[in-house]
Amino acid sequence: MAKINRKLKIFCVVGARPNFVKIAPLISEMKKYPKLIQPILVHTGQHYDQAMSKEIFKDLGLPKPDIYLYVGSGPHAKQTAEIMTRLDDVIVREKPHLILVVGDVNSTLAAALVAAKLRIPVAHVEAGLRSFNENMPEEINRVLTDRVADFLFTTEHSANKNLLKEGLAKQKIFFVGNVMIDALKKSKIKSQKSKILKRLNLKEKGYAVLTLHRAEIVDQKEKLLKILNILKVLGQKLPIVFPVHPRTRQNIKDFELENKFKMPNLIMTEALGYLDFLNLESNAKVILTDSGGIQEEATIFNIPCLTLREETERPITVKVGTNIVTGLNKDKILKEIKRILDNKFKTGHTPPLWDGRASERIVKVILKKYIKFFQFTRSFFKKYDL
Ligand code: UD1
Repeated sequence: MAKINRKLKIFCVVGARPNFVKIAPLISEMKKYPKLIQPILVHTGQHYDQAMSKEIFKDLGLPKPDIYLYVGSGPHAKQTAEIMTRLDDVIVREKPHLILVVGDVNSTLAAALVAAKLRIPVAHVEAGLRSFNENMPEEINRVLTDRVADFLFTTEHSANKNLLKEGLAKQKIFFVGNVMIDALKKSKIKSQKSKILKRLNLKEKGYAVLTLHRAEIVDQKEKLLKILNILKVLGQKLPIVFPVHPRTRQNIKDFELENKFKMPNLIMTEALGYLDFLNLESNAKVILTDSGGIQEEATIFNIPCLTLREETERPITVKVGTNIVTGLNKDKILKEIKRILDNKFKTGHTPPLWDGRASERIVKVILKKYIKFFQFTRSFFKKYDL
């Protein structure tokens, strides 16, 4: 007979838009084990706007956060420190058994550091990705989070290699696939109902999508001017939809570039919801982006993707997928655009384990590691295949 059980209390910490997408399939997977796991959703408040947070929660069917820390925006160190201070109190009070973090934003690192200081195990989902560009705040977040994590869940083989090279123990590393793709697969049908194309007066495969939000690009006026130059030519070939991230909008205003961005065929919108954006991506002729997640989504939708950065921490999207790293090299971009319009661009394939089941694998790994923690008899776990 089973003894009285105790549940594994897992703090799932999120802060910024891409975190919400990654945590959604994990929370719904954890909820399949109500006798074993109690997931607690903690939102730091790094992203707080309706469009950047609430709308995305709604689109993903995510429950309201159990704990909200109201941290808001700020310089990197201050924001990270504020998250740490507020989270520390909550963790001491709630005593979770495991802290799970996703991705590479400031909230990810802050939560991992607090957990490490309090000696609570950390699980990092999307571990091991490396751009090898330490000018990116995300690169610092990735390296440091991985250093203190006890579970390193990876999306591609390059990540395993990076972690091993950094001397991290093999037993901590689990190649599980990509939770971002789990979310995409779950939302694909719903996203097809979006009216975004009609609303923006676009035709399937008749437009480009542009996204820009990386500090190392949008915080520099010269880089925005370079992008404007590229858009002038691209806009003569097809309409460009540009959902504008708040950081980018603010910089365009501060650099007094608002008028320059008013050009025919450039459709600037507010940041879009998850379902509208998936629909927009899946019907595009080409995607130009500096985002990591979008390179991955483009690969799954088999849409040509030009990455406007000098490198990618997700090399599988180039090796196997539809991605090409162009930087802001105008000639290279226009050459690739020509290839795309002539339908001569490479076709991509699905990277290994990007099958929509990464969350399932992650939760199983965690449960197996904690099997002795539960006070059920071994036979109880048979039905869960553990
Ligand atoms: C953050 C992440 C980045 C991620 C991106 C996704 C870090 C270091 N960066 O960048 O890795 O790809 O989120 O969107 O964690 N703002 C609003 N409303 C909001 C949130 C932000 O107006 O809801 C504005 C504020 O002016 C803020 C600025 O955007 O200062 C930047 O926000 P922040 O969270 O610091 O960084 P992101 O550029 O969004």
